[in-house]
Amino acid sequence: MSTSSIASIDWENYRFLQEHVYSQAGIVLEDNKHYLFESRLTPIVRRLGLGSINDLCALLKVSREAEVGRQVVEAMTTNETYFFRDPAHYEAIRTALLPRVKQERRDTRKLRFWSAAASTGQEAYSLAMLLLEQNLADWDIQILGTDFSSQVLERARAGKYQQIEVNRGLPASLLVKYFSRSGVDWQLSEAVRRMARFETIDLRKSMRTLGPFDLVFCRNVMIYFDAETKKKIMKELHGTLFRGGWLLLGGAETALGVEEWFDKQIIENATVYVAR
Ligand SMILES: C[S@@+](CC[C@H](N)C(=O)[O-])C[C@H]1O[C@@H](n2cnc3c(N)ncnc32)[C@H](O)[C@@H]1O
Repeated sequence: MSTSSIASIDWENYRFLQEHVYSQAGIVLEDNKHYLFESRLTPIVRRLGLGSINDLCALLKVSREAEVGRQVVEAMTTNETYFFRDPAHYEAIRTALLPRVKQERRDTRKLRFWSAAASTGQEAYSLAMLLLEQNLADWDIQILGTDFSSQVLERARAGKYQQIEVNRGLPASLLVKYFSRSGVDWQLSEAVRRMARFETIDLRKSMRTLGPFDLVFCRNVMIYFDAETKKKIMKELHGTLFRGGWLLLGGAETALGVEEWFDKQIIENATVYVAR
Protein backbone atom coordinates (compact mmCIF):
# COMPACT_ATOMS: atom_id res chain seq x y z
CA MET A 1 0.00 0.00 0.00
CA SER A 2 1.24 3.48 -0.84
CA THR A 3 2.44 5.61 2.09
CA SER A 4 1.10 8.81 0.48
CA SER A 5 -2.33 10.20 1.39
CA ILE A 6 -5.30 8.58 -0.28
CA ALA A 7 -6.02 11.58 -2.53
CA SER A 8 -2.49 12.34 -3.65
CA ILE A 9 -1.73 12.14 -7.38
CA ASP A 10 1.79 12.26 -8.83
CA TRP A 11 2.22 14.52 -11.79
CA GLU A 12 2.79 11.59 -14.15
CA ASN A 13 -0.42 9.95 -12.93
CA TYR A 14 -2.29 13.24 -13.31
CA ARG A 15 -1.28 13.25 -16.98
CA PHE A 16 -2.30 9.59 -17.28
CA LEU A 17 -5.77 10.35 -15.84
CA GLN A 18 -6.23 13.39 -18.10
CA GLU A 19 -5.38 11.28 -21.14
CA HIS A 20 -7.55 8.39 -20.01
CA VAL A 21 -10.66 10.57 -19.58
CA TYR A 22 -9.97 12.39 -22.86
CA SER A 23 -9.46 9.22 -24.88
CA GLN A 24 -12.52 7.47 -23.38
CA ALA A 25 -15.07 10.31 -23.42
CA GLY A 26 -13.48 13.35 -25.11
CA ILE A 27 -13.65 15.30 -21.86
CA VAL A 28 -10.86 17.84 -21.42
CA LEU A 29 -9.79 18.29 -17.80
CA GLU A 30 -7.19 21.03 -17.45
CA ASP A 31 -4.12 21.09 -15.25
CA ASN A 32 -5.99 22.85 -12.43
CA LYS A 33 -8.56 20.12 -11.77
CA HIS A 34 -6.67 18.30 -9.00
CA TYR A 35 -9.50 18.80 -6.53
CA LEU A 36 -11.97 17.28 -8.98
CA PHE A 37 -9.91 14.13 -9.55
CA GLU A 38 -9.34 13.86 -5.81
CA SER A 39 -12.97 14.22 -4.74
CA ARG A 40 -14.39 12.05 -7.52
CA LEU A 41 -11.82 9.23 -7.47
CA THR A 42 -11.35 8.81 -3.71
CA PRO A 43 -14.64 6.84 -3.36
CA ILE A 44 -13.47 4.40 -6.08
CA VAL A 45 -10.11 3.98 -4.31
CA ARG A 46 -11.92 3.16 -1.07
CA ARG A 47 -14.38 0.79 -2.76
CA LEU A 48 -11.54 -1.17 -4.33
CA GLY A 49 -9.63 -1.26 -1.03
CA LEU A 50 -6.64 0.56 -2.56
CA GLY A 51 -4.32 2.95 -0.73
CA SER A 52 -4.42 5.99 -3.01
CA ILE A 53 -5.30 7.42 -6.41
CA ASN A 54 -1.70 6.65 -7.40
CA ASP A 55 -2.46 2.98 -6.67
CA LEU A 56 -5.60 3.23 -8.78
CA CYS A 57 -3.51 4.54 -11.68
CA ALA A 58 -1.01 1.71 -11.21
CA LEU A 59 -3.88 -0.79 -11.39
CA LEU A 60 -5.23 0.78 -14.57
CA LYS A 61 -1.83 0.91 -16.20
CA VAL A 62 -0.95 -2.71 -15.43
CA SER A 63 -4.20 -4.56 -15.90
CA ARG A 64 -6.09 -2.16 -18.19
CA GLU A 65 -9.19 -3.16 -16.23
CA ALA A 66 -11.95 -2.03 -18.58
CA GLU A 67 -14.64 -1.89 -15.90
CA VAL A 68 -12.56 0.13 -13.44
CA GLY A 69 -11.38 2.33 -16.32
CA ARG A 70 -14.99 3.06 -17.19
CA GLN A 71 -15.91 3.80 -13.57
CA VAL A 72 -13.08 6.35 -13.46
CA VAL A 73 -14.39 8.12 -16.58
CA GLU A 74 -18.01 8.04 -15.37
CA ALA A 75 -16.89 9.51 -12.04
CA MET A 76 -15.25 12.38 -13.91
CA THR A 77 -18.41 13.34 -15.82
CA THR A 78 -20.40 16.25 -14.42
CA ASN A 79 -24.06 15.29 -14.28
CA GLU A 80 -25.65 18.50 -12.99
CA THR A 81 -29.18 18.88 -14.39
CA TYR A 82 -32.65 19.92 -13.31
CA PHE A 83 -36.24 20.08 -14.50
CA PHE A 84 -37.07 22.79 -17.08
CA ARG A 85 -33.49 24.08 -17.16
CA ASP A 86 -33.34 27.18 -19.39
CA PRO A 87 -37.11 27.78 -19.32
CA ALA A 88 -36.91 29.94 -22.49
CA HIS A 89 -36.12 26.77 -24.45
CA TYR A 90 -39.31 25.07 -23.28
CA GLU A 91 -41.33 28.20 -23.96
CA ALA A 92 -39.96 28.33 -27.52
CA ILE A 93 -40.79 24.64 -28.01
CA ARG A 94 -44.35 25.23 -26.78
CA THR A 95 -45.08 28.39 -28.73
CA ALA A 96 -43.04 27.97 -31.92
CA LEU A 97 -41.81 24.44 -32.56
CA LEU A 98 -44.91 22.45 -31.59
CA PRO A 99 -47.47 24.47 -33.60
CA ARG A 100 -45.28 24.05 -36.70
CA VAL A 101 -44.49 20.34 -36.35
CA LYS A 102 -48.08 19.53 -35.42
CA GLN A 103 -49.06 21.01 -38.74
CA GLU A 104 -46.24 19.38 -40.72
CA ARG A 105 -46.72 15.93 -39.18
CA ARG A 106 -50.49 15.92 -39.09
CA ASP A 107 -50.63 12.85 -41.37
CA THR A 108 -48.19 10.61 -39.51
CA ARG A 109 -48.82 12.16 -36.06
CA LYS A 110 -45.30 11.09 -35.20
CA LEU A 111 -42.80 13.24 -33.28
CA ARG A 112 -39.23 12.33 -32.39
CA PHE A 113 -37.02 14.02 -29.83
CA TRP A 114 -33.54 13.41 -28.46
CA SER A 115 -31.96 14.46 -25.20
CA ALA A 116 -28.34 13.83 -26.18
CA ALA A 117 -26.62 14.26 -22.81
CA ALA A 118 -29.58 13.23 -20.71
CA SER A 119 -27.88 12.69 -17.35
CA THR A 120 -30.52 11.62 -14.79
CA GLY A 121 -33.44 12.29 -17.15
CA GLN A 122 -34.88 15.64 -16.05
CA GLU A 123 -34.48 17.15 -19.54
CA ALA A 124 -36.26 14.29 -21.33
CA TYR A 125 -39.03 14.16 -18.73
CA SER A 126 -39.54 17.95 -18.70
CA LEU A 127 -40.19 17.70 -22.42
CA ALA A 128 -42.50 14.72 -21.93
CA MET A 129 -44.60 16.64 -19.37
CA LEU A 130 -44.70 19.68 -21.64
CA LEU A 131 -45.98 17.50 -24.50
CA LEU A 132 -48.63 15.87 -22.30
CA GLU A 133 -49.78 19.35 -21.26
CA GLN A 134 -50.21 20.20 -24.96
CA ASN A 135 -52.79 17.46 -25.52
CA LEU A 136 -50.45 15.37 -27.62
CA ALA A 137 -51.18 12.20 -25.67
CA ASP A 138 -52.70 10.48 -28.72
CA TRP A 139 -49.68 11.21 -30.93
CA ASP A 140 -46.88 8.71 -31.55
CA ILE A 141 -44.15 10.40 -29.54
CA GLN A 142 -40.73 9.05 -28.66
CA ILE A 143 -38.08 10.77 -26.62
CA LEU A 144 -34.64 9.19 -26.70
CA GLY A 145 -32.36 10.02 -23.78
CA THR A 146 -28.68 9.12 -24.10
CA ASP A 147 -25.55 9.63 -22.07
CA PHE A 148 -22.02 8.30 -21.79
CA SER A 149 -22.63 7.32 -18.19
CA SER A 150 -24.66 4.18 -17.58
CA GLN A 151 -24.99 5.08 -13.89
CA VAL A 152 -26.98 8.25 -14.52
CA LEU A 153 -29.15 6.46 -17.08
CA GLU A 154 -30.14 3.86 -14.50
CA ARG A 155 -31.50 6.71 -12.41
CA ALA A 156 -33.22 8.23 -15.44
CA ARG A 157 -34.97 4.94 -16.20
CA ALA A 158 -36.15 4.59 -12.62
CA GLY A 159 -37.71 8.07 -12.74
CA LYS A 160 -37.37 8.43 -8.98
CA TYR A 161 -36.24 11.82 -7.68
CA GLN A 162 -35.29 13.26 -4.32
CA GLN A 163 -37.13 16.18 -2.75
CA ILE A 164 -34.22 18.51 -3.52
CA GLU A 165 -34.41 17.50 -7.21
CA VAL A 166 -38.13 18.13 -7.59
CA ASN A 167 -37.63 21.46 -5.84
CA ARG A 168 -35.42 22.60 -8.72
CA GLY A 169 -37.37 23.96 -11.71
CA LEU A 170 -40.45 21.75 -11.51
CA PRO A 171 -43.72 23.68 -11.12
CA ALA A 172 -45.77 22.47 -8.14
CA SER A 173 -48.75 21.81 -10.43
CA LEU A 174 -46.70 19.29 -12.47
CA LEU A 175 -45.29 17.67 -9.33
CA VAL A 176 -48.79 17.03 -8.06
CA LYS A 177 -50.05 15.83 -11.43
CA TYR A 178 -47.23 13.53 -12.57
CA PHE A 179 -45.46 12.31 -9.41
CA SER A 180 -46.44 10.28 -6.40
CA ARG A 181 -44.71 9.88 -3.06
CA SER A 182 -42.32 6.94 -2.71
CA GLY A 183 -41.00 7.01 0.85
CA VAL A 184 -39.00 10.24 1.07
CA ASP A 185 -38.65 10.42 -2.74
CA TRP A 186 -40.98 11.17 -5.65
CA GLN A 187 -41.86 8.63 -8.34
CA LEU A 188 -42.64 9.87 -11.83
CA SER A 189 -45.81 8.40 -13.30
CA GLU A 190 -45.79 5.61 -15.86
CA ALA A 191 -47.55 7.90 -18.37
CA VAL A 192 -44.50 10.17 -18.46
CA ARG A 193 -41.85 7.49 -18.11
CA ARG A 194 -43.08 5.45 -21.05
CA MET A 195 -42.60 8.40 -23.41
CA ALA A 196 -38.83 8.21 -22.96
CA ARG A 197 -36.27 5.45 -23.36
CA PHE A 198 -32.64 5.68 -22.37
CA GLU A 199 -29.51 4.31 -24.02
CA THR A 200 -25.77 4.61 -23.45
CA ILE A 201 -24.25 6.53 -26.36
CA ASP A 202 -20.91 8.29 -26.65
CA LEU A 203 -21.53 11.50 -28.58
CA ARG A 204 -18.22 11.13 -30.40
CA LYS A 205 -19.42 7.96 -32.09
CA SER A 206 -21.35 7.96 -35.36
CA MET A 207 -25.00 8.93 -34.96
CA ARG A 208 -26.09 7.96 -38.43
CA THR A 209 -28.48 5.27 -37.24
CA LEU A 210 -30.34 7.73 -34.98
CA GLY A 211 -33.15 10.04 -35.99
CA PRO A 212 -34.46 11.82 -37.86
CA PHE A 213 -35.51 14.06 -34.99
CA ASP A 214 -37.69 17.16 -34.78
CA LEU A 215 -35.61 18.45 -31.88
CA VAL A 216 -32.30 17.60 -30.28
CA PHE A 217 -31.20 18.88 -26.89
CA CYS A 218 -27.42 18.80 -26.56
CA ARG A 219 -27.03 21.07 -23.58
CA ASN A 220 -24.21 21.65 -21.15
CA VAL A 221 -21.95 18.94 -22.50
CA MET A 222 -20.08 20.64 -25.38
CA ILE A 223 -18.27 22.78 -22.79
CA TYR A 224 -16.24 19.69 -21.84
CA PHE A 225 -14.98 19.03 -25.39
CA ASP A 226 -12.22 20.64 -27.47
CA ALA A 227 -12.98 22.63 -30.64
CA GLU A 228 -12.32 19.74 -33.01
CA THR A 229 -14.59 17.34 -31.12
CA LYS A 230 -17.34 19.98 -30.87
CA LYS A 231 -17.30 20.62 -34.59
CA LYS A 232 -17.42 16.93 -35.43
CA ILE A 233 -20.36 16.42 -33.06
CA MET A 234 -22.27 19.43 -34.46
CA LYS A 235 -21.96 17.96 -37.95
CA GLU A 236 -23.21 14.58 -36.77
CA LEU A 237 -26.10 16.18 -34.85
CA HIS A 238 -27.09 18.03 -37.99
CA GLY A 239 -27.30 14.67 -39.76
CA THR A 240 -29.84 13.41 -37.20
CA LEU A 241 -32.28 16.32 -37.61
CA PHE A 242 -35.10 16.88 -40.05
CA ARG A 243 -34.51 19.94 -42.19
CA GLY A 244 -35.85 22.82 -40.06
CA GLY A 245 -35.42 20.70 -36.90
CA TRP A 246 -34.03 22.40 -33.83
CA LEU A 247 -30.79 21.93 -31.97
CA LEU A 248 -30.70 23.46 -28.49
CA LEU A 249 -27.35 24.06 -26.78
CA GLY A 250 -26.61 25.11 -23.20
CA GLY A 251 -26.58 28.76 -22.16
CA ALA A 252 -22.77 28.99 -22.10
CA GLU A 253 -22.30 27.16 -25.39
CA THR A 254 -21.95 28.63 -28.85
CA ALA A 255 -21.86 26.93 -32.19
CA LEU A 256 -19.05 28.89 -33.82
CA GLY A 257 -18.11 27.83 -37.32
CA VAL A 258 -21.17 25.70 -38.02
CA GLU A 259 -23.04 28.16 -40.24
CA GLU A 260 -22.74 25.54 -42.96
CA TRP A 261 -25.23 23.31 -41.13
CA PHE A 262 -27.35 25.56 -38.90
CA ASP A 263 -29.05 28.96 -38.88
CA LYS A 264 -28.88 30.63 -35.50
CA GLN A 265 -32.22 32.20 -34.56
CA ILE A 266 -33.61 33.88 -31.46
CA ILE A 267 -37.10 32.57 -30.81
CA GLU A 268 -39.01 33.68 -27.71
CA ASN A 269 -35.75 34.72 -25.99
CA ALA A 270 -34.20 31.34 -26.73
CA THR A 271 -31.21 30.74 -28.99
CA VAL A 272 -32.11 28.00 -31.42
CA TYR A 273 -29.97 26.34 -34.10
CA VAL A 274 -32.20 25.46 -37.03
CA ALA A 275 -30.95 22.65 -39.27
CA ARG A 276 -30.42 23.67 -42.89
C1 LIG B 1 -23.96 18.65 -17.17
S1 LIG B 1 -24.79 17.21 -17.77
C2 LIG B 1 -26.02 17.97 -18.80
C3 LIG B 1 -27.41 17.41 -18.56
C4 LIG B 1 -28.52 18.07 -19.34
N1 LIG B 1 -28.28 18.02 -20.75
C5 LIG B 1 -28.73 19.49 -18.87
O1 LIG B 1 -28.35 20.42 -19.59
O2 LIG B 1 -29.29 19.70 -17.79
C6 LIG B 1 -23.59 16.62 -18.96
C7 LIG B 1 -23.76 15.15 -19.32
O3 LIG B 1 -22.96 14.86 -20.47
C8 LIG B 1 -22.52 13.53 -20.36
N2 LIG B 1 -21.35 13.31 -21.25
C9 LIG B 1 -20.07 13.68 -21.05
N3 LIG B 1 -19.30 13.25 -22.06
C10 LIG B 1 -20.09 12.59 -22.93
C11 LIG B 1 -19.88 11.91 -24.16
N4 LIG B 1 -18.67 11.81 -24.73
N5 LIG B 1 -20.96 11.33 -24.76
C12 LIG B 1 -22.19 11.40 -24.19
N6 LIG B 1 -22.45 12.03 -23.03
C13 LIG B 1 -21.42 12.61 -22.40
C14 LIG B 1 -22.21 13.38 -18.88
O4 LIG B 1 -22.20 12.02 -18.47
C15 LIG B 1 -23.32 14.21 -18.23
O5 LIG B 1 -24.39 13.41 -17.78
